[in-house]
Amino acid sequence: MALFEIKGANFFYPSGEDSEIQALKDVSLTIEEGEFVVIIGHNGSGKSTLAKLLNGLLLPASGQVVVDGKNTADKQHYWPIRQQVGMVFQNPDNQLIATMVEEDVAFGPENLGVPTPDIVKRVEESLRQVDMLSYRRHAPHLLSGGQKQRIAIAGILAMRPRCLVLDEPTAMLDPRGRREVLETVRRLNREESMTVVWITHHMAEAVHADRVLVMEDGSIVMQGTPREVFSKTKLLQSLDLDAPDITRLGQMLAEDGYAISQDVLTVEELAVELCR
Ligand SMILES: Nc1ncnc2c1ncn2[C@@H]1O[C@H](COP(=O)(O)OP(=O)(O)OP(=O)(O)O)[C@@H](O)[C@H]1O
Ligand SMILES: [Mg+2]
Repeated sequence: MALFEIKGANFFYPSGEDSEIQALKDVSLTIEEGEFVVIIGHNGSGKSTLAKLLNGLLLPASGQVVVDGKNTADKQHYWPIRQQVGMVFQNPDNQLIATMVEEDVAFGPENLGVPTPDIVKRVEESLRQVDMLSYRRHAPHLLSGGQKQRIAIAGILAMRPRCLVLDEPTAMLDPRGRREVLETVRRLNREESMTVVWITHHMAEAVHADRVLVMEDGSIVMQGTPREVFSKTKLLQSLDLDAPDITRLGQMLAEDGYAISQDVLTVEELAVELCR
């Protein structure tokens, strides 16, 4: 069964006295359990609004969002959906509250009323999942950005969600932190079949996705495998987006007469093409 089923969702924000901005326009989307979906799109295209619809933080004005068979508009599903769909945002500092890593990770399950011995187990397990167990007694504010973001993810995992929705989780990180966080989430997807919705402006983060969605002006305008999406250079450019650097490098070399396919996605693939 699909984990998310969005049908004809529209969303408006109030703007000024009696006008409004339509942030989502008739969006329909199905996300299967275990999928790794990346959402890209220009600033203001509606990515964050869509993310907030996924766990019921926002409700569509019309249309519906169904998570694991539960409509987000139904009040009785409010908490189950919040627990099942974990949200991770840009700034890890806003997501960490305690003075010690393990207290921070315990916060979510404590709020869910999980019994103390189970909390201890969950905290340990979640910190291990993000490879941060040895930092359990550290102060979160002294960690690197990538480590902080992994602690924030552990805090979500401790609530045992079915899905992670990450809204530009690497935007404030250096390249190493970006790599750490992406690797951690990819591993959760691969090894534990965690469903992932990953929003980013970094095209390179989309190359390993099962599916890439491109948003523009409140609509999903393109979707497919990374290879399908990133080989449509002209269409991407018309949306003011680029293919990943490696894909573009391959395309430039092809323009210069090298026999390289237009859809290489990784350094390894480009190397293979060049050695052919
Ligand atoms: N709280 C709000 N009040 C009013 N308008 C908003 C609000 N949040 C977003 N918008 C507007 O809704 C539209 C979609 O915004 P959204 O934040 O979903 O886009 P986004 O794709 O996440 O952009 P970015 O890449 O900058 O994060 C934009 O026109 C934005 O200005
Ligand atoms: Mg956003």
